[in-house]
Amino acid sequence: MQLISDLTLLDDLDAPKVAAGDAGGTRRVYIETYGCQMNVSDSEIVAAVLREHGYGLTQDPEAADVILLNTCAIRENAEQKVRRRLDVFRADITKRGRALTLGVLGCMAERLRHKLLEQEHLVDLVVGPDAYRDLPRLLDEAADTGQAAVNVHLSREETYADIAPVRYATNGVTAFVSIMRGCDNMCAFCVVPFTRGRERSRPVSSILSECARLVEQGYKEVTVLGQNVNSYRYEQDGTLVGFPELLDRISRLSPELRVRYSTSHPKDCSDELLHVHAERPNVCNYIHLPVQHGNTDVLRRMRRTYTREQYLDLIERARRICPTISFSTDIIAGFCGETEEEHRDTLSLLETVRYDHAYMFMYSERPDTYAARKYADDVPEAVKKRRLSEIIELQTGIALERNRAEIGRVVTVLVEGPSKRSEAQLSGRADNNKMVVFDRQDFRPGDYVHVRITDCTSATLIGEPLGKTTLAEQAARPAMV
Ligand code: SAH
Ligand code: SF4
Ligand code: F3S
Repeated sequence: MQLISDLTLLDDLDAPKVAAGDAGGTRRVYIETYGCQMNVSDSEIVAAVLREHGYGLTQDPEAADVILLNTCAIRENAEQKVRRRLDVFRADITKRGRALTLGVLGCMAERLRHKLLEQEHLVDLVVGPDAYRDLPRLLDEAADTGQAAVNVHLSREETYADIAPVRYATNGVTAFVSIMRGCDNMCAFCVVPFTRGRERSRPVSSILSECARLVEQGYKEVTVLGQNVNSYRYEQDGTLVGFPELLDRISRLSPELRVRYSTSHPKDCSDELLHVHAERPNVCNYIHLPVQHGNTDVLRRMRRTYTREQYLDLIERARRICPTISFSTDIIAGFCGETEEEHRDTLSLLETVRYDHAYMFMYSERPDTYAARKYADDVPEAVKKRRLSEIIELQTGIALERNRAEIGRVVTVLVEGPSKRSEAQLSGRADNNKMVVFDRQDFRPGDYVHVRITDCTSATLIGEPLGKTTLAEQAARPAMV
């Protein structure tokens, strides 16, 4: 089982993350989380709501009174995985004749509620991403009536601003903080605006106080989350706070707190934001800036609102303002009508930008989206697969070259915990978000350590530790990043 603390940013979106156990409560809840960091963060809200109402968490589904799957609908295979999991739990419940509530939360809730409830009688509870405050009542209702309980209402206001998340599987070093919910962008391929509703920003004061609390608790890094964080805007006391200002204010809470964010849309990546990266030493020099495709006509069909040239200009501008900035991206292969030539434009864009990392997907048609309604999903599966593997092969080579260029350099790593392979080694991220592994010695999670890079793979840097440091010291010696 994978704990949330093992997760890398957006890595392996489809792998489930399981809630660690805690002692409290009389009724035990087992939560399994699928999808992106927003869902991970939402499960922490769910845990907080339920704990407040006397529930305890368990890591063992066998010991649970309530099993909740926080689901993802982004691609068909994400949904299929959850359905298989539901089948397993339902079969087990039937076989053992257990009195147990099985519920679906998150992004599959709205779309699949009729199917899951009425056609398949698979679940007892369906709760959408804006209705988690209602969970205790719905759980009671399901238990009292023996009938399925449902709330998939999408809100224009809910941000769970006043709920302190229960960080149940934390490494104690890095934390997610949601700053907005929903999305108004309506990219043609994307189901998120349908599953999560309209975009809304969380009040500045509640974000700052949550981050300040994390600093007090000893956390060293926050990643602020939203589907499109750089369109954050909140009006408080007659003044409008945008994302650059919010980021700046978070970064001033402590010089030893690293600040990251995910995800950003190219159309909202302003020069003001790039200057915050350049000027604030503890705002990491890393942006996940999904391009999706390298061809302007495809980008138009995708309704991404920028051209290839505008995106490349943005990358150039960012590198001018902040020369050490590192980029990762998302790519979709085989979108509707994609020709061989258009596909080659994605390959050439990858060669031009030279991302440090990319998340690469095969297009998967999602019901109700603009693309599903207006375009034919006409690239044959085999062609999609071949194009995706060309993209992956090229990008893996680029990532390896970029990692090799780090060999010999000294980077500042925030230690997150033991490496996946060995307890004798620690792992953590450099400022540019690259994972670094090195010998444990006496270093501990939460330490900033200078590490000289000696070797690498396409995904990881390997190095030797030189000694502890602080971000303040790093800021005074900018040659070391
Ligand atoms: N809000 C984020 C993306 C969230 S979804 C953003 O705009 O950057 C994460 C990624 O999944 C997207 O960037 C896209 O590359 C991919 N994705 C979304 N819908 C998809 C679909 N229908 N098929 C394949 N990949 C998809
Ligand atoms: Fe989906 Fe586009 Fe919104 Fe990202 S910006 S969540 S891809 S609609
Ligand atoms: Fe999936 Fe919902 Fe996130 S569809 S990627 S869990 S916003």
